[in-house]
Amino acid sequence: MSTKITVIPGDGIGPDIVDSAIKILTKVGCDFDYEFVDAGLTALEKTGELLPQNTLDAIKRNGITLKGPLTTPVVEGFTSINVSLRKQFGLYANLRPVKSFKGTQARYDNIDIITVRENTEGMYSGLGQKVSEDGSEAEAMSKITRQGAERIVRFAYELAQREGRKKVTAVHKANILKSTSGLFLKVAREIAEEYPDIESAEMIVDAACMRLVMNPEDFDVIVTTNLFGDIVSDLCAGLVGGLGMAPGANIGKDCAIFEAVHGSAPDIAGKNLANPSSVILASVQMLEYLGMSEQADKIVKALADVIESGDRTTRDLGGSHGTTDFTDAVIERL
Ligand SMILES: NC(=O)c1ccc[n+]([C@@H]2O[C@H](COP(=O)([O-])OP(=O)(O)OC[C@H]3O[C@@H](n4cnc5c(N)ncnc54)[C@H](O)[C@@H]3O)[C@@H](O)[C@H]2O)c1
Repeated sequence: MSTKITVIPGDGIGPDIVDSAIKILTKVGCDFDYEFVDAGLTALEKTGELLPQNTLDAIKRNGITLKGPLTTPVVEGFTSINVSLRKQFGLYANLRPVKSFKGTQARYDNIDIITVRENTEGMYSGLGQKVSEDGSEAEAMSKITRQGAERIVRFAYELAQREGRKKVTAVHKANILKSTSGLFLKVAREIAEEYPDIESAEMIVDAACMRLVMNPEDFDVIVTTNLFGDIVSDLCAGLVGGLGMAPGANIGKDCAIFEAVHGSAPDIAGKNLANPSSVILASVQMLEYLGMSEQADKIVKALADVIESGDRTTRDLGGSHGTTDFTDAVIERL
């Protein structure tokens, strides 16, 4: 029986880039059974809800989801759909790998960094957000738990071990955020002792950002809290040619959602201009999660060849072609 996968095409450029990824998966021989459901603005327009119940049921039932970016309306009363999904399905680990592909406009050609971001706690989780009635004060709450910190740091070390990586850097701000970041760092140091074969480092987040720009080769696996992970991983995407090249996997105990790191790009939506590599690489992460590394490697090789040769690449990669031409170029190589 073929594996059933929930697909959320998403908003803006989402449907085009997800379509591209599915065509490539089909070409490489993946016999998946896809269940298409809606979320985000598309769902709101159709059903009046950003996250309809049938979408939540499909995510839970199938366990694996490939998702396009979603637009969260910027008005009060709507919480981020992505934050809701991560919380509801306990997707505690956000894995954001970036790897250099020859032929991009990136400043570096030797990057291979994975950011492991805690996905459910900390400042980003939206806890206790309040604005006073007169609008003069705003507050939000950040909460880190020992269990959450242990789980994510251990995840990062296990990943490093599995993938033969050499170093894990814990990124924090414990010098100032002594309670929350302090607890995260304390736990990171404890867990590091369990993995003597892997080099452990720690770095304050602002210094880490500077170092990432100046000496990115110093990093291998980065483990950090939610908000820092959000920012640092976008910085890492910039090192390899921008958001169009950055995939992300949200992993929980019983459920995983694979997606592009970027948003719905309303400025280029509907214009056939988006680089689909982010979702293609997210589908590669999905194949690796499913143990289908042979197909995953084939896709990465074909994608790398298209980008390096400049054959039908998109504008952000220095080319002049659209999403569909780029997809065809990858498919021809498979
Ligand atoms: N995972 C998600 O679903 C997710 C993530 C971030 C933002 N968002 C949402 O997306 C919407 C738009 O956000 P934004 O404009 O701040 O960020 P964005 O990531 O959509 O776009 C930022 C810039 O990058 C470009 N870009 C993004 N993806 C690209 C691609 N694949 N190819 C070529 N260029 C690409 C865009 O054209 C834009 O200039 C917002 O509603 C936001 O909430 C969703």
